[in-house]
Formats: sequence, structure tokens, C-alpha cells
Amino acid sequence: MTSPPSARGAALDLIGAVLRQKHPLDEAIDEHSALAELPPRDRAFARLLLATVLRRLGQIDALIAHCLEKPLPARAAVTQDLLRLGLAQLLFLRTPPHAAVATTVDLAEARGFLSYKGLVNAVLRRLSQEGAALVEAQDQARLNTPQWLWRNWCEAYGEPTAHAIAIAHLHEAPLDISVRSDPQAWCERLDATLLSTGTLRRQAGGPIASLPGYGDGEWWVQDAAAALPVKLLGNIANETVIDLCAAPGGKTAQIAAAGAHAIALDRSPRRVERLASNLARLKLTVETQVADAIQWRPPEPVKFILLDAPCTATGAIRRHPDVPHLKTMDDVGRLAGVQERLLHAAVEMLAPGGILVYCTCSLEPQEGRMQIERLLGKGAPVVRVPLDAAEIGGLSECISPDGDLRTLPCHMADKEGLDGFFAARLRRA
Ligand SMILES: C[S@@+](CC[C@H](N)C(=O)[O-])C[C@H]1O[C@@H](n2cnc3c(N)ncnc32)[C@H](O)[C@@H]1O
Repeated sequence: MTSPPSARGAALDLIGAVLRQKHPLDEAIDEHSALAELPPRDRAFARLLLATVLRRLGQIDALIAHCLEKPLPARAAVTQDLLRLGLAQLLFLRTPPHAAVATTVDLAEARGFLSYKGLVNAVLRRLSQEGAALVEAQDQARLNTPQWLWRNWCEAYGEPTAHAIAIAHLHEAPLDISVRSDPQAWCERLDATLLSTGTLRRQAGGPIASLPGYGDGEWWVQDAAAALPVKLLGNIANETVIDLCAAPGGKTAQIAAAGAHAIALDRSPRRVERLASNLARLKLTVETQVADAIQWRPPEPVKFILLDAPCTATGAIRRHPDVPHLKTMDDVGRLAGVQERLLHAAVEMLAPGGILVYCTCSLEPQEGRMQIERLLGKGAPVVRVPLDAAEIGGLSECISPDGDLRTLPCHMADKEGLDGFFAARLRRA
């Protein structure tokens, strides 16, 4: 039986696509043709439903388990998803109980899950009565964080900070914007506030492309923490800067806007195309290269390199709540190997006295601090150049004891936080 497209129906499909077929959230959304046919409001609602299920999955599944004598069999996986969808609305999105229950039961029927309709109805009705008190007693930070991440964060930052990070992940991140110039004037036009780091911040929601200045290429979307590593290169006006893992080009845009000649390299042709179109919208000129940075070498060593290496992206869980459900500790190990090879290649490209900024949007020390320790431990011909809080808008809490950048989602808590980024600055001896 097929049902007419609806936000709830699309969210149900997407929960399965992320949690069982292991598709990244943004890809799953792009590939869902019925979702594209929905009006913008319904599309936004579908995304909100899905993001709420992903952010609160541990809590929601514990509540379902509380109501069932034994777990649902594997063949009833979609029924579990229906319950997740209903509970996200009932307990976290303040949908009126009768609407949350009735729409979920209707969806179960429309999708042909007639034998589970009664169970869906009974669980949702029971939790519409008891759910709020049960939620109150839950440890939300712990339940919504997979064990491997919790363990790694407790080891790296201590349990209170791991807890604060997990709490920050429960909320949608604000919309952060980098402007080509005149941040103050754009703040007014975009109804945004100016952070001490130079990023503009406004409430998320609504179509980005219809905001003033987007079509004219005056600004681009970039988390406040993601905008910090390029600042560590220092004054790059009129210099050549190689951006080794450049696509989709947020940091390349900063480099070009700072007046440097940017060489943007990425091994993915599709992503380089996207970078070129992003930079064309911004009317910024850069040189692009499709190549593997581990093999590629510039004609001669250069003074400035940015290496924004591929990583697990656990620092961006606020914006990508699918990450904890898709990545594993094995991914950390695999990517740490790639990062190590990229770092050694980058050092080889660097001229004497040249500056290399290495960064990742990961919270895992294996992809940050430990990479630099290993590189220096192996005697690579570079030294660390610790950063000063003045370079990053005075955010001294974001500087590690070694002098690296270490932002966490729980930093800048009074201003809605920022993504988790690691960056180290190295100078070739
Ligand atoms: C974290 S993303 C870069 C984000 C980008 N710097 C920005 O600010 O928009 C990592 C990029 O590294 C690229 N990449 C992965 N391995 C690579 C390699 N060996 N050589 C070049 N690029 C690589 C990926 O295709 C991906 O686009």
C-alpha cells in the first residue's frame, strides 16, 4: 500500500535510511524524491522530526523498552521507527498528544503495519500519560551518547566536560555566517549578532538562499569554530596558500577573501566542482586541483599550508546528529592513519620557516592532539607555534595547555556554543 507524501512519512523513511542503511543524513535527504515535492514548511518539519529522533535516540529507545516485555523482532524494525517518530513528537516537540498518537497510528496503517497498529497505539497512549515523568528521571547526556564516544570523551576531557558536550548536542546549532567584508553592516542587514571572533550569528531556520546578500555572494555559511583555523595562518595577503583538503571551500573562501592566492586541492572531482561553484558565487578567484595530497607535491615548497584533514566529524554533531549513529571507533583509527600520512606530506611541501595549520572537526584526541604529538615525536622538522587568545577573539578557554586550538560544543555556552575543532600551528625549522 502506498500513502500520499507527508512530512511524517518522509521522516519515517529517513530514520530507516540513516539508522539501518547507514546513509549520511544529508545524502538521505537529497535522495528522497518525495521529500523534495513537499512544501518548504513540511520539508523543514520532516528534518526536525528526524533530527529529534537522532538526537534523542537513546532516551526514546529506553522509553520504548520500558513499555515492552521484550524487544520488537528485527522484522518489526519499522514499527520501532514509528514509535520513535511518535515519541519524538509527544515528548520533545510538544505536539498535542492526540495528534502525535493519531498521526502515528494512521501512518502505521497507511504503511500496512496492521498487526502492530494496536501496539503503537497502546505504547504511545501510555507514554502520553507517564512519559514526561520518565523523561525527567533519565540521564539524557549518557543515554544519547554511544558508549565508545562517551568513553573517549571522559578519557580526553573528564566526565563533567563529556556531560556538557553531550548536553550541547541536544540542541540545534545557530546559523553562523562568514562575510567577505563589513561584518557590522551585514549584522544589521541579516539581523545577526557579531561574535568576538568575527563570525555573524543568527537563529537557524528558513531558506538560507533568500536572505539578503546570499545571491550577491557577500557571505557564506560557516560555523564560528570552523572559521578559526585560517586565522592561525596570520597575515596571508598577497601570499600563496595551499589548501590541501579544500572542498567544499569554506576555508578556501576565507583564504581568498584575505587577499591570498589560494591553491585549493581535493581528491574528489565532484567536491572540487562544488568548491568551484561556491567560490564563483562569492566572486572569489582561486586555483583548483584534483589530486591526492598524499602523493601531490607543489612545484616548489611554499610558505603557507592549511590541512583540514578528513575526520569523523564528531565535533559537528550539533549540525549532523547522524554522526554518532554512523561512525565507530574503527573509523577513528582508520582516519587517524590517513591524517598521519597527510601531515607528513604537508610537512614535505613546506618551505623553511613556513607555517602549516593542521585541523579537524573532531572531538577525538586521536585525530587532534595525538597526531601532533606523534609527528613531533617522530622528529619531523617542525615546531609548534602556540596560539594567543587575541588571535581567536579572546577565547582563552579554547586554547589547550600545549597552545593548540581545542574548541568544544560546550564552550561559549552563553552564546549557543560552537562546533568542536582542533587546530595546531607548526613552523618548519
Ligand atoms: C573536512 S573536509 C574539508 C572541508 C573544507 N576544508 C572546508 O572548509 O570547506 C575534508 C576534505 O578532504 C578531502 N580529502 C580526503 N582525503 C584526501 C586526500 N588524500 N587528498 C586530498 N583531499 C582529500 C575530502 O574529499 C574532503 O573534501
